Amino acid sequence: MDKKWWKESIVYQIYPRSFKDSNGDGIGDLNGITEKMGYLQELGINVLWLSPVYESPNDDNGYDISDYQAIMKEFGTMEDFDRMLKAAHDHGIKLVMDLVVNHTSDEHPWFVESRKSMDNPYRDYYIWRPAKDGKKPNNWGSCFSGPAWEFDEETQMYYLHLFSKKQPDLNWDNPKVRQEVFDMMNWWLEKGVDGFRMDVISLISKEPDLPDAPAGINGYASFNAPANGPHVHEYLQEMREKVLNNADTITVGECSGVTLEEAKKYARSDGKELNMVFQFEHMDVDADGSNKWTKKKMDLRDMKSVLTKWQKGLEDIAWNSLFWENHDQPRSVSRFGNDSPEYREISAKMLATCLHMMQGTPYVYQGEELGMTNAPFASVDQFRDLDSINAYRELVEEQNVFTAEEMMSFLRYKSRDNARTPFQWDDSENGGFTTGEPWIMVNPNYTEINAKNQLEDPDSVFHYYQKLIQLRKEKELIVYGIYDLLLPESKEIYAYTRTLGDEKLITICNFSEQEVEMEIPEEFLEGNYLISNYPEQGICSKMTLRPYEAFVIEK
Ligand code: GLC
Ligand code: CA
Repeated sequence: MDKKWWKESIVYQIYPRSFKDSNGDGIGDLNGITEKMGYLQELGINVLWLSPVYESPNDDNGYDISDYQAIMKEFGTMEDFDRMLKAAHDHGIKLVMDLVVNHTSDEHPWFVESRKSMDNPYRDYYIWRPAKDGKKPNNWGSCFSGPAWEFDEETQMYYLHLFSKKQPDLNWDNPKVRQEVFDMMNWWLEKGVDGFRMDVISLISKEPDLPDAPAGINGYASFNAPANGPHVHEYLQEMREKVLNNADTITVGECSGVTLEEAKKYARSDGKELNMVFQFEHMDVDADGSNKWTKKKMDLRDMKSVLTKWQKGLEDIAWNSLFWENHDQPRSVSRFGNDSPEYREISAKMLATCLHMMQGTPYVYQGEELGMTNAPFASVDQFRDLDSINAYRELVEEQNVFTAEEMMSFLRYKSRDNARTPFQWDDSENGGFTTGEPWIMVNPNYTEINAKNQLEDPDSVFHYYQKLIQLRKEKELIVYGIYDLLLPESKEIYAYTRTLGDEKLITICNFSEQEVEMEIPEEFLEGNYLISNYPEQGICSKMTLRPYEAFVIEK
């Protein structure tokens, strides 16, 4: 067993725009984060991942970068950044930057040059193609609706953008592009940051002939079509040699479209590429094929089979990252738990138990530790996310795939904006997020769900997360133990064991609103509770699990 600090860490993700506004302009900022470092320390996390804070025209809230070495004006200055970094380190927290290098903003000077002429020195920094039989070069679609190609009048050619047309894809086959990225990464490492979360890194290498791929409901191929391309591993190994080996970093690759076999290469234990990847198969169990716009509820058996496949598949070979939420996903308690007043807290704790007892590095997304819920968006103009807005336009207004009512119900359930409403600090106006006009609606349930209430209540979701995080720090069994699934066929219960030498624990989670019976394996009958989301009941061979009950027993 290869012990590493990043395997023993707990990461917290901040979406800066929505975390804490320090100057009343309605937008979260770096000084707001600095202010709240004590809160993060109290929760117990030891790594902070910041969604992008670089200069950006904000077509995709900072995932469209126009200067990798400057701070977005709305978020503050480079001095504010340095102060925040120091505050993090003073609180024992390492800082991970979001590295968005599959694409830049179309306002990045490289692209401004690139589109000027065919012989511009920056032309080959991006992916340009002529029309094919008078049409687009292939059938790839953008992640945010419509085609992945934009025609540029100036040179009469198309450029590729797997995301919005303001996010042109970089050409990683150009060694100059790679060197620019590596130099920029080294600059941040020299500043003292501790690692990188790599945005859609699985997409950086494209097949040279850009082949068509199967089309989805809007007629275009998924933006994932080029995933795991021919040179991606070679480029990441080069990055390892030229950048990552220069410091003791933590790295996680966001790998949309990654398979288990590919993940073993990205997160290989010989340390030649990344430490771990985000895979998304468990985020697709409630999708309708490749279409996420549905209200379908997951079948727990699918969730178990996906997560177990990853737990067992990477065992001793690579390392998992564990997450229910991030800034691209709706709130987990509304999606996989039950956000009714009766069960919200108990089911949020159940989900946390289920995830935090697995093998891998856990990620907590801001507000998840409070059991924050999806928001009651009432009309399409309350959304800020281009993904949601474009999907509505395309699927309702242009293509009539869904009615307006259907689409609104899908958006309320799945829109990324559910995770982007402001962090709920207290029960004052705007949940204490801002004294100004928030850039996106505040979830009205802030009067009940907020950090202040939860810090005062020893039984809160916050304190439950705090305990889970503490347990992981204390017990190697939770970090390194081998995972084994029990009861794969149960539709209600997710139960598994973890084993390390003679040590063993069992995690039992009732994902349903019903009481269910469970036989407890003999070896745990004399065991002790490590944590439980209800008052503990006596351990016996046949136990009745209460709605959304979860507990962990150590042998
Ligand atoms: C990643 C980010 C997402 C962003 C996209 C384009 O998936 O997590 O928020 O929109 O990449 O950068
Ligand atoms: Ca602000």
